Amino acid sequence: MPKVTAFTAGRRNGTTETLTKIALEAIAAMGIDVELIRLNECDLHPCSACGNGPCHSKGPAACIWKDDGAWLNEKFLDSDGYILAAPVWSLSPCGIVTDFRDRVFGPKMDMAMWEMNGGSPEWAKGRRKQRPGGLICAGGALSEHWTSLGMPTLYTTTFSAQTNVVDNLNLYACGDAGEVFLRPEVVRRAKYLGQNVGHAVLNPQIDWENRWLGSDNDGEACPGCHLSLVIAKPNRNYVECAVCGRKGYISLDENGKMKFNWPVDNQNRLTMMGKFDHAREINLHGEIRSQQGGPEIDEQVKKYRQMEQWTVKAPSRTKKKAEKKED
Ligand SMILES: Cc1cc2nc3c(=O)[nH]c(=O)nc-3n(C[C@H](O)[C@H](O)[C@H](O)COP(=O)(O)O)c2cc1C
Repeated sequence: MPKVTAFTAGRRNGTTETLTKIALEAIAAMGIDVELIRLNECDLHPCSACGNGPCHSKGPAACIWKDDGAWLNEKFLDSDGYILAAPVWSLSPCGIVTDFRDRVFGPKMDMAMWEMNGGSPEWAKGRRKQRPGGLICAGGALSEHWTSLGMPTLYTTTFSAQTNVVDNLNLYACGDAGEVFLRPEVVRRAKYLGQNVGHAVLNPQIDWENRWLGSDNDGEACPGCHLSLVIAKPNRNYVECAVCGRKGYISLDENGKMKFNWPVDNQNRLTMMGKFDHAREINLHGEIRSQQGGPEIDEQVKKYRQMEQWTVKAPSRTKKKAEKKED
């Protein structure tokens, strides 16, 4: 039986979790196994960025942090589709989401890198697949612009694993969970999101890369991620989607309204081709550094490594050292 795993970062029984349960209920009704994991109840240390560390070669179980990180990675790899849901805090998803992203996804889960290095790593145990997903983001403020970085960040959380988001639900003006039920259109959209993810999971023969099942009532700017967060710089006639990275040409119609034209762009980072491009870019960066090194550079590195006179240790670290001495 296929399985959809939902990772939620909101409060227990809060708005985000309630919307996720509505979506899961619709998925379960389609005969799909469902699971809900509360990220806030997981023990998850931030990634230490030990470079091409043990998690790359031996897999997440070899991570230096013996917490729930490896278990979360297994849960994702065991799923056929996923939901990621989070409340907005200070315009972005709450902090546990970025720890989840850095510990569970990131370069070690980059499918383009897997392919360029001879296929899936052994630790993935053949579970290489493009999983369809749905994203839910809920902000409390009364205007949408207070949620500006929420949904874009949810896309970046899982995208290294070449997930295909088929629907997203960005909500604002969310009070407590009860308020969800005062807005029947919201309950309906959460249910539709579940059905869209369920449909994609039940039809793996369809290539879900760049396919969209959600609504587009607001006419979002980017046809790839269905969001409108664009980078607009002076003296350019194009904008860049901050999520996909693709270029869109901008013009004004006779009423002075903005129009976008997005040609097919292989650098779209939501596709495998975009990820190949990125992997090649990273490799090139490493080559430049190894070719241009030398004693002068090593001296500079040493100088700043030794510069510790202004560093202040956190009280918890000082306490731990004192305790060790006492032992
Ligand atoms: C620290 C903090 C920061 C917040 N910042 C924002 C914000 O920038 N924009 C917004 O719309 N809501 C903000 N909120 C409100 C939450 O997004 C809102 O209460 C949310 O619906 C809670 O979801 P939950 O019930 O699933 O936990 C913030 C809440 C907290 C606790």
